[in-house]
Amino acid sequence: MIHLDYTNMLAPAVKGGIPARSWSAADKLFARAHKAFEKRRGNGELGFLDLPRDAALHAQSTDFVKRTRGRFDDVVVLGIGGSALGPIALRTALRKPFWNELDAGEREIRPRLHVLDNLDPLTITALLDRVNLERTVFIVTSKSGGTAETMSQYLVIRQRLDAAKVAAKDHLVFVTDPAKGALRPLAQAERIPALDIPANVGGRFSVLSPVGILPAALMGIDTARLLAGAAEVTSTCTDEELRSNPAGLFGTLQFLADSRSGKHIHVLMPYSDALRDTAAWFVQLWAESLGKRRTTDGEHVGPTPLGALGATDQHSQVQLFMEGPADKTVTFVTVRRNEREDVAIPKLHQSVSELSYLGGHALGEVLDIERRATAGALARRGRPNMTIEVDAVDAWHVGALMMLLECATIYAGAMYGVNPLDQPGVELGKQFTYGIMGRPGSDAAREEFEKLPKPNPRFRV
Ligand code: PA5
Repeated sequence: MIHLDYTNMLAPAVKGGIPARSWSAADKLFARAHKAFEKRRGNGELGFLDLPRDAALHAQSTDFVKRTRGRFDDVVVLGIGGSALGPIALRTALRKPFWNELDAGEREIRPRLHVLDNLDPLTITALLDRVNLERTVFIVTSKSGGTAETMSQYLVIRQRLDAAKVAAKDHLVFVTDPAKGALRPLAQAERIPALDIPANVGGRFSVLSPVGILPAALMGIDTARLLAGAAEVTSTCTDEELRSNPAGLFGTLQFLADSRSGKHIHVLMPYSDALRDTAAWFVQLWAESLGKRRTTDGEHVGPTPLGALGATDQHSQVQLFMEGPADKTVTFVTVRRNEREDVAIPKLHQSVSELSYLGGHALGEVLDIERRATAGALARRGRPNMTIEVDAVDAWHVGALMMLLECATIYAGAMYGVNPLDQPGVELGKQFTYGIMGRPGSDAAREEFEKLPKPNPRFRV
C-alpha cells in the first residue's frame, strides 16, 4: 500500500507549516482543481491515466521482448527528458543494484540498460567502444520524432550500424508518436519496429507507455505488476474527496506551501537508494509541468523541485534545509523495513562509545531511525515536511507512486493556473539552436540570436 502522512505540513503543529486559514480553503481549492482535472480527462488530454489498462499497448512491448529474447546483451536508449528519465528510474528501482555490472547469470540472461540522454561525445564514444553491435539493440525514443539531441545520436549510431554491416531493422526500435514526426516514415520505409507513444501522452507523463515499459520488459521487470499498481491507485488519485485522495493532497499541500507560506522549493527525499532516480524523474515532472506563465495574466509561477537522498544528503543538503532560508518543504519517501533482508550491525568494540550503541541494530533500521529523526528535527525548527510511505520498492508500488505523482502534477497545474502538459519555455532555445545550425526555415531565429549582446572582453578574465 501507499500512504501520505502530512502531519508535519500544518501549523500550528509545525510553526512554518500551512496556517489554519489557508488549510481551511483547501477543499474548495481542490474541488476546482478536480473539476479542471476531469475536464482535461473528458477532453482526452490525460492519456497517461489510460496507460495502465491499455493491454494492446502493453503487448507491443512484451511481444517485442518475446520475439527477441536472448538476442541482446545491451539495450541502449537514445532519448532525453521524459524519454530518458523514466527508464533510468525503473532500472534503478526495480533491478538489482549495480545491474549493468552484474554478469549475465546474475542478470538472468537479461540485457544491461544504458540511457544516452546527452550529446557529450566522450560518453557516447565510450559506450560504443564497449558494446558489441551484433548483441545490442538501440531504442530511439522521441515523442515528437524530431528532437535535435536524439536525432543526432540516431545518426551517429545509424552510421556505426551501417559501417559494421549490422542490419538496422534488427538492432533498432523506434518509440514515437503513432503518426507524427520523422521516425514513423523511416520505420515504414526500412521495416524498423516502431512502438507507440499515444498522441495524448506527453514525454514526462510517458513512463508507463513503451517509453518505460519496453526497456523495463527487456530487463525482465514485471511490467504487468507495474501497470497494475498504477491502475489500482488511479481511482483513489482521482477521487473527488480531498482527504482520501493522496495525489490531491500532495498537489494541494505543495501548492499552498508555495503560494501562501513562501515555501518555493520542494524537496523529494527518498530514504532508499532504489528510489534515487525516481526523485530525478519527479524533478523533471514537477519543474517542466509547473514552472511557467499563468494562463490568465502571464504571471511567472511555479515551485522549484529538488531531489535529495537520505541518509546521504543529511551530510550535504540538510544543513541548508534546517537553517537556510525557510523556503522549502521536504517530502520524504520511506519504504517499510524488510527485517528479513536487513543487515545486522555486529556488536564489536563495545568499549568505544561512538560504536557500541550501533551494535545489535540493523542498517535498514538505522536508516529509518535517521529519517524519522530528520523529519522530527525539521518539524522542531518549524520546517514543514511530509512522508510518503510504501510497503516495498517493487513493481506494483513503483507504478503506484509514479501514477500518484503524475496525478498530483495535474492538480497542482490547475491550482497554479498553468497548462501542466506543455513546455513553451524551452522553445526559444531550440529555435536559436536551429538558427545557429542553419536548419531550413529558421532564419528569423538566427537573426534574433545575432542581435543579442556579444561577449564583452571587459567582463571576461
Ligand atoms: O516532458 C517532455 O515533454 C520533454 O521533456 C520531452 O520528453 C523531451 O523534450 C524529449 O522530447 P521528445 O520525446 O519529443 O524527443
